[in-house]
Amino acid sequence: MNIHSLPRLPLATLPTPLDELPRLSQELGVRVVMKRDDLTGFALGGNKARKLEFLVADALEKNCDVLVTGGGVQSNHIRTTAAAARKAGMDAVGVFFASPGGVARHHADADAVLKDERDDVREVNGNLLLDEILGAQLIYAQADKLETEQVIQRACDDLRAQGRNPYLIPVGGSTKLGVISYMLAVGEMLEQVRAQNISPDAVVITTGSCGTHAGVLAGMKFYGADIPVHGITVSRPRAECLERVARLVSETAQFLEREIVVNENDLIVHDEYIGEAYAKITPAARAAIQRVARLEGIFLDPVYTGKAMAGLFDLAGRGTFAPGSTVLFWHTGGAPGIFGFPRDVV
Ligand SMILES: Cc1ncc(COP(=O)(O)O)c(C=O)c1O
Repeated sequence: MNIHSLPRLPLATLPTPLDELPRLSQELGVRVVMKRDDLTGFALGGNKARKLEFLVADALEKNCDVLVTGGGVQSNHIRTTAAAARKAGMDAVGVFFASPGGVARHHADADAVLKDERDDVREVNGNLLLDEILGAQLIYAQADKLETEQVIQRACDDLRAQGRNPYLIPVGGSTKLGVISYMLAVGEMLEQVRAQNISPDAVVITTGSCGTHAGVLAGMKFYGADIPVHGITVSRPRAECLERVARLVSETAQFLEREIVVNENDLIVHDEYIGEAYAKITPAARAAIQRVARLEGIFLDPVYTGKAMAGLFDLAGRGTFAPGSTVLFWHTGGAPGIFGFPRDVV
């Protein structure tokens, strides 16, 4: 399978910039450059636009007419999926799992929940507001992540029973097609570092459902680049991330019929920056969001990239990233989440 000839629906504005962060670098004693996937453009940007280029193209090839996926109430993934569905002429269903910021409930009739209970459940802001503008059908599942996958499955069954042809996108869009999108993003980034004469000693990336991390790691192998990829997990424990990243890389390699060898040493995940829970702010993430905004005029988000940047700061402070070394922070977006958790960021 040729990675360059897979069906792809253009959504993102590519290449995204690779920016120097001189003021932050000076303060930190480590040179930080930033891959600006917050600026992928489509539907307010972020990493999911890259994944959805391949996922939506696949859905169209399979003649699907509705995208079904899940995530937290302030999910960037659901927002971008709903927008991509609309651009491709499809409908979208988003299943929310219980997460901080409100009670989640299960209702078979999602519209009824929205009309009758929505305002009691939570404020409609940030990504949730955008989901509603897009007219996505939203289901509040009173479930953890695992059960949510079952609710997503059930939503697909219901749609099929109604004569629809749903395309199921697992939480986070972390499938082999999602991984491939980030392998290609590594090709894009490597061209930029070459052109800009930058030699990154490490990449720092946010690890959630693990597809982006897996894609960046697989991309390094694919393009023969030897840059360690440090994932900062914001939800799953380290062991689970290691297993998921390795599995996603190996499934993708199989699909592409290529050997992509990932050793134990290649799998680097830090889980000490999650804090109390997914989507619960930490003081270090709040400080990182403010520091990057106040030094560079760039917004991170409270759920994902704020925690990842807090990890970068801490690892630099502890010497994991040596003074004078160059760290590439892969900004994966999420800014609409700022408006979903306003009290977390100031
Ligand atoms: C802003 C942002 N960054 C990072 C991630 C994590 O990406 P992945 O789920 O591929 O690990 C997400 C996932 O939702 C996200 O929304």
